[in-house]
Amino acid sequence: MSFSPRIIAFFLAVLITTVSIVFLSFVPNVSAAMLFVVGVSSFFASFFFVFYTIDILVFREVEQIYKTIQKLKIRDFDISRKTLIRSVNPIKKLNSEISTYVARKQQEIDELKKMEVFRREFLADVSHELKTPIFAAQGFIHTLLDGAMEDPVILERFLNKAAKSLDGLDALVRDLVTLSQVEKGDLKMHFETTDLRHITEEIFEQLESKAKTRGVTLKIKPKELQAAWVTADKQRISQVITNLVDNAIKYGKENGKIIVEIEEEKKYFQVSIEDDGPGISPEHLSRIFERFYRIDKSRSRETGGTGLGLAIVKHILNAHHSKISVTSKIDKGTRFTFKLPVAGELIPNKEGGKVAQH
Ligand SMILES: Nc1ncnc2c1ncn2[C@@H]1O[C@H](COP(=O)(O)OP(=O)(O)OP(=O)(O)O)[C@@H](O)[C@H]1O
Ligand SMILES: [Mg+2]
Repeated sequence: MSFSPRIIAFFLAVLITTVSIVFLSFVPNVSAAMLFVVGVSSFFASFFFVFYTIDILVFREVEQIYKTIQKLKIRDFDISRKTLIRSVNPIKKLNSEISTYVARKQQEIDELKKMEVFRREFLADVSHELKTPIFAAQGFIHTLLDGAMEDPVILERFLNKAAKSLDGLDALVRDLVTLSQVEKGDLKMHFETTDLRHITEEIFEQLESKAKTRGVTLKIKPKELQAAWVTADKQRISQVITNLVDNAIKYGKENGKIIVEIEEEKKYFQVSIEDDGPGISPEHLSRIFERFYRIDKSRSRETGGTGLGLAIVKHILNAHHSKISVTSKIDKGTRFTFKLPVAGELIPNKEGGKVAQH
């Protein structure tokens, strides 16, 4: 049982009154009326005396704690002196408020620390990635300036190499801008009715020569699919499929086969991009969507990859309130899958409700 200042004051008042009446009753010539008056007045006097003494003693401490809190400029405590007087145990209440507050602040500090580590790693990664093409281009140009320019064959070769490095740098900076925009939520999606089959055909055309150099065949399934109308940001979804098909070409099997399968479900089209390449082992599979994560860094740098592609894919699909999933079997291949709502369907929002298409 917990005691509030009121209850304690009441019991003590009853005790003091009883003792006074008992003592007084032994005094000769004391009338019942007198006993009653003394009883009532001693009850009220002792009740208020005890109550305010406890109150002052307790609240002197409470005020002290409050002053400390004020010094810390904490405005998160929504407890007033009134609620503390009403509460059963004000010290307990204040203590629990402070503990909750400290736990919350500790959580915030942990998150900030994690973000700081993440920011530092990101900065290190970015500077490293920027350094590679800059140093390469710088090297070629300085070699030319130091005299290699005389030879027209070397001149052309080195200029081509420098141009390639700078193209890579340009792609990296553009990817970084896109990534920071989608992560900040600055990139506005323009939802429209668009045909997934048509988008895929356009992408196949763009990547045809790249696929040819590796002898890779690109296929859409089912063959007889005429169109797949969905609600999506055409440009961004095109970027998603391009990234996935590009990866399948780069990291899939030489002379292999890539299939983009578009299946209609009730209210969604499910898109899968599948290759028959070497696959991804489980320890890498859970990490490939992280920025700059590459399984084979040297091979992926050779192919011009910076490890941002899948991070961008994930964020674009998040902005469509969709998720990307991946399954992979070593030596069998990898399959990336996501869903988009059939055109005319409302796009689900984060709260589980629906928003109209734009
Ligand atoms: N289909 C795949 N098969 C095997 N490995 C893959 C496949 N797709 C991605 N990966 C691995 O996942 C890593 C991350 O892919 P991601 O697309 O994010 O980066 P990237 O292709 O290296 O660079 P970028 O896309 O920025 O040019 C790749 O480096 C590769 O190691
Ligand atoms: Mg990629």
